[in-house]
Amino acid sequence: MRPWLCCAALVAVHSAGAFAREASPPEGAAADRKAAATEAALTDEERVRLLNGIMAVPFGGAVVPEGVPFGAGYIAGIDRLGIPALTETDASLGVSYLGGIRRDGATALPSGLAMGASWNPELMREGGALIAGEAHAKGFNVLLAGGINLVRDPRGGRNFEYLGEDPLHSGLLGGAAVAGIQSRHVISTLKHFALNPTETGRQFHNAIIADGAFRMSDLLAFEIAIEQGQPGSIMCAYNRVNGPQACGSDALLNGVLKRDWGYKGWVMSDWGAVRSTDFALAGLDQQSGSQLDAAVHFGKPLLDAAARDKRYRKQIGDMSRRVLRSIYAVGVDANPPVKAPIDVAAGAAVAQKIAGQGMVLLQNRGDILPLAATAKRILVVGGYADAGVLSGGGSSQSQGEGGPVVSLPMVAEGMFAPIMAQNYHRSSPLKAIRARAPKAEVVYRDGRYAADAALAAQNADIVIVFATQWTTEGLDVPDLSLPGGQDDVIAAVAKANSNVVVVLQTGGPVMMPWQRDVGAIVEAWYPGARGGEAIAAVLFGDVNPSGRLPVTFPASVAQLPRPALPGADSVEPDFAGYGKPGQTLDIDYNIEGADVGYRWFARKAEKPLYAFGFGLSYTRFDRLGLAVSGGAAPTASFTIRNSGARDGADVGQVYLVETPQGKIRRLVAFSRVDLKPGEARSVTVPIDPRLLAEWTARGWKISGGTYRFALGASADELLEEVGVQLTERIWNYAK
Ligand code: BGC
Repeated sequence: MRPWLCCAALVAVHSAGAFAREASPPEGAAADRKAAATEAALTDEERVRLLNGIMAVPFGGAVVPEGVPFGAGYIAGIDRLGIPALTETDASLGVSYLGGIRRDGATALPSGLAMGASWNPELMREGGALIAGEAHAKGFNVLLAGGINLVRDPRGGRNFEYLGEDPLHSGLLGGAAVAGIQSRHVISTLKHFALNPTETGRQFHNAIIADGAFRMSDLLAFEIAIEQGQPGSIMCAYNRVNGPQACGSDALLNGVLKRDWGYKGWVMSDWGAVRSTDFALAGLDQQSGSQLDAAVHFGKPLLDAAARDKRYRKQIGDMSRRVLRSIYAVGVDANPPVKAPIDVAAGAAVAQKIAGQGMVLLQNRGDILPLAATAKRILVVGGYADAGVLSGGGSSQSQGEGGPVVSLPMVAEGMFAPIMAQNYHRSSPLKAIRARAPKAEVVYRDGRYAADAALAAQNADIVIVFATQWTTEGLDVPDLSLPGGQDDVIAAVAKANSNVVVVLQTGGPVMMPWQRDVGAIVEAWYPGARGGEAIAAVLFGDVNPSGRLPVTFPASVAQLPRPALPGADSVEPDFAGYGKPGQTLDIDYNIEGADVGYRWFARKAEKPLYAFGFGLSYTRFDRLGLAVSGGAAPTASFTIRNSGARDGADVGQVYLVETPQGKIRRLVAFSRVDLKPGEARSVTVPIDPRLLAEWTARGWKISGGTYRFALGASADELLEEVGVQLTERIWNYAK
């Protein structure tokens, strides 16, 4: 049967049963057995069919079968055995817009760092379930979601897609998002495995790191997220890792992922990341979007290899079994997508809730915020605030109905030009401010000219400047300045008016040379489909800001492990990132090793502009009563009290600050608590023993001796400390 027949049938048959009862997927061992039985019934031609994906868009000679939604990927199913086709869409931040090829509209969630700033796994779960529901309604059953690369460089172009710089935080939040997605019987990936923190020369740069440092940082984030979320698939990264391409790395895929961690799902390649058929022997199970590779490596070539080489013959059995296992474990076969309209209002409500919890109040001199509803003249400057809110670029880009309200092309040449645009969602902060201050005169200036903005500022009671930094997949930023002269506009306005609020919409950390001259600073990240409303709600105090930074904001790039962006001097900025033939770029991550972000700042005793974990509130919190228990299942307990006058939420953070080896800084536990004025809550949080250990040649090792912990308001504002005795413990993965 031709593949398109199977999928057209799939969509048609099930579109009628919009309220069909969900079928529960088989538990682990039952999914194993079912996958083994189905795999045994496959022909080799059918096995490799499951291992070869195309981009589901009409380009590069691909024929998208009728009824299959345009999306990032498509893998034909096998009708005679009831194996569904896999229909894939990008979805880290919402079902993607595909450069406008699909204009059906989807909820755009806030950026990954906004979600990370919520420190709220439950919210991640809710966001994941929402996206999966929308994806299902559009005919998709696989989400290319779960971006959890650690932010190692604040200039990384895709930082906005990721959750933060700490392995526990990214692992728990990323795992919760995956669990939320898969609760709707849609497979989720975690990506990009691994050590893919920058975009410059992304197809060839070689990320170098020692095993121990790797296991305790980026790999630990994946390991925790896999345990929490049980993703059906892992997407390997574009870059090389310690030599081989990540998607052809035996050490990473066969070694760490499948052998050590016992991962049972399948590894799909990133789009255009496969170089040869022997990647299959290194542990890659599926070639994705094969039009983007130089050749189809996993179709006919894999079949031919299996016919002449026993190793491939055995391998295609394991590879196809893994795909089947995830289909069954997530219940994709029994719960096919049902095409239906999406609930735009429900999606918007979730997007606004996430934006509200993710916004970080960085500065609030003289309690200038929340704004008084009595302000008479409010000036709003810049950032297209009259129209909408900024979003990040690349494959993760999603758009609501009607597409972007403003779309500024950033690149005119090349195949990726259509997706390289600075896009704004239809959620105007200006309108939302006007709605909250109906008696005020609210004036807007576009901020192109500092003098014009400053003149208008002279007559205002309050000035709100919207500053933006667009970042995108494919390109890193050369430095951390706000582009286009925005620093000058803020400085000029701050000279003219002493009540200036700066709202940042940035991909990640930026420099703030005007910090001391303004009253308040709110980091709104890319705030998603209802970002304008969410910003206004924070500015006027309807929502009490509770976001805490998931990344360190450096005071200067000189403080970073690599003050110069690797490759900035040798690699042409280019979305595809293949570079010139034979071009190489080694990036040495052993400089910081496992001490990413705040850990590096602690090691170097550097003071950042704003620390990891930092964020202000309109109320006050007392954090007290830290107690840590040792033993095989250590825990941390603490109490948070709201001692101010407003409802608010705080994130209790516990850091390991000393081990028998010396000083250290590691987040080992956290908990977000919502509190009424005067209310106190005590929480007990488990401490993952891997966070107390070092990775050694013998596995994880906790040395016997005293360990000291501190309750923190942030990674560099440590409050109470306690010590606990731990006995030596060494453990490793079953070989
Ligand atoms: C990105 C992936 C994405 C894929 C499919 C790649 O360029 O790196 O994150 O899922 O494209 O669109």
